[in-house]
Amino acid sequence: MCGIFAYLNYNVSRERRYILEVLFNGLRRLEYRGYDSSGIALDADLSSSSPSLGASYAGAPPLVFRQEGKIENLVRSVYAEVDEKDVNLDAAFSVHAGIAHTRWATHGVPAPRNSHPQSSGAGDEFLVVHNGIITNYEVLKETLTRHGFTFESDTDTEVIPKLAKYVFDKAHDEKGDVTFSQVVMEVMRQLEGAYALIFKSPHYPNELIACKRGSTLILGVNELSGQNSGKPFHDVKALTTNGKPKELFFSSDLCAIVEHTKNYLAIEDDEIVHIKDGSVSVLKFDQDKEKPASVQRALSVLEMEVEQIKKGSYDHFMQKEIHEQPHSLTTTMRGRLKDGGILLGGLKEHLKTIRRSRRVVFIGCGTSYNAALAARPFVEELTGIPVTMEVASDLLDRQGPIYREDTAVFVSQSGETADTLLALDYALANGALCVGITNTAYTSQIVTMAMMALAIGSDQISTQARRDAIICGLSSLPKNVSEVLKLDVEMKELASSLIDSESLLVFGRGYNYATALEGALKVKEVALMHSEGMLAGEMKHGPLALVDENLPIIVIATRDACFSKQQSVIQQLLSRKGRLIVMCSKGDASAVCPSGSCRVIEVPEVADCLQPVINIIPLQLLAYHLTVLRGFDVDQPRNLAKSVTTQ
Ligand code: F6R
Repeated sequence: MCGIFAYLNYNVSRERRYILEVLFNGLRRLEYRGYDSSGIALDADLSSSSPSLGASYAGAPPLVFRQEGKIENLVRSVYAEVDEKDVNLDAAFSVHAGIAHTRWATHGVPAPRNSHPQSSGAGDEFLVVHNGIITNYEVLKETLTRHGFTFESDTDTEVIPKLAKYVFDKAHDEKGDVTFSQVVMEVMRQLEGAYALIFKSPHYPNELIACKRGSTLILGVNELSGQNSGKPFHDVKALTTNGKPKELFFSSDLCAIVEHTKNYLAIEDDEIVHIKDGSVSVLKFDQDKEKPASVQRALSVLEMEVEQIKKGSYDHFMQKEIHEQPHSLTTTMRGRLKDGGILLGGLKEHLKTIRRSRRVVFIGCGTSYNAALAARPFVEELTGIPVTMEVASDLLDRQGPIYREDTAVFVSQSGETADTLLALDYALANGALCVGITNTAYTSQIVTMAMMALAIGSDQISTQARRDAIICGLSSLPKNVSEVLKLDVEMKELASSLIDSESLLVFGRGYNYATALEGALKVKEVALMHSEGMLAGEMKHGPLALVDENLPIIVIATRDACFSKQQSVIQQLLSRKGRLIVMCSKGDASAVCPSGSCRVIEVPEVADCLQPVINIIPLQLLAYHLTVLRGFDVDQPRNLAKSVTTQ
């Protein structure tokens, strides 16, 4: 729900201006995660001091900036404030630890006081940026208030830096000394919920600590010279004592570090990563142990390219994502569609267990749920296993039945959706075999599930011909997607005829019920137009009452077993003077609308079960153009964050 980022340069001189820009850029990359408000904390000049905070206060109070609105608001206000306060942007630091945050409000309205870094109070002795949610913050707030702390924000996060200060002061009084990691470990002991946290404190100048439970957190490492230069590191231990100049990053997402380094560590739950004197140590927190164990972790090499995070020649990221689908589908299938068969390494050894499952349960939220719904018919057909659908939050609300004999398939674009992860914990606790499908594109999610269904069903001789046809359809899918993308101009025209509509209905059935839901979701999410996806078979049971000559209705009537039923739906809607837009297979215009009174969108025909991959594209284009024409922000839809890491 929020994005956190940190940058620490060690033994390499960096001007404050440069450090600021690294932090701002990190936030720009993470802005998709939330754009209600943002903030940063920088080190003060070395000459600054803070006598009022006592002898234990090693460094000067940091410079903290918080601002409401998008990142560019923060950028403007920081430059204005440093100018006003005469902060020297040319000051150079051989070591500097900066932290940053972009927020999607959950507790407290978007406002500077609710923005992060959240602070321990006067002097900013402990500063924290947080992604996630602290579920026991009210209890902690009460306790800390009793100990004399006063709270300035409405956030759940504020208890964390205040708790850190409480732990620090207490340890100082009792033992005279305490390390930064001991403070953080004690704080973790008290926190409940999901979080990724970065701590900064002038008591521990030039150090940063990050830890996580639930939310994603990445460490990026860029060693600037020496024997490892240009080569990937192999383990974090190699970073402990070499003293070489380096840059270290923490980030909620790899996309914010790819322009700096390809060497990264995906921090695991309950790990504490402590950067001190340019060294990195990883500790494993254990609630039952007083001391955390030190762990050895290997760094990975990032496969992402910088171009992937840039818009290139496109006007918007959404437009880029839509038009790059032939490529993303090719990448999704690369190495997996082999010699007329399917090769899914991760699933191979579990295929027998899955085949023996009593049922497959698809679990996801939003678009990912819709992708699973699109996959449901062919998974049932190719595997013979019944499939049930669960919206993750609803499964949790009901504590619905999940059994040891179930295969629970979790579908997610981000892989970090809180409801989906909690449902995963729930399914694991109930003994189900759990499979995860993470892919950022809706169409690639469907293709992944098609490959999964083909692999599970590969032992069935009776469906061999059908499987061969689907595999053939998969191979030519990118080409057909390129073809359907040519409808761009037509969909822009359609969008301009709909810009003033208040509502849009989308009717689908069978393989394309999910297409109707997903198309409608895109229209409401980005174009901010009310839209409902409906099961065409339910039309007569209520929705028909809405039909008149003004309400635009899209009917998906491409060729499959439901085609004739959709023809009849169209006739019934036309007899009520419905304003119809019909999506049909190429050459079918007169078959779906003999009277010629509907607007028709013709799409390439592919294997029926893969048709949802084609059919969603005109609707994505429509949603995109509607948004632009209605003057809304395509890439940052109102009230949304692309990663929903809170419940
Ligand atoms: C809509 C959208 C959301 C997400 C949903 C679940 O475009 O992206 O509906 O699909 O919030 O998130 P993931 O898929 O990341 O689990």
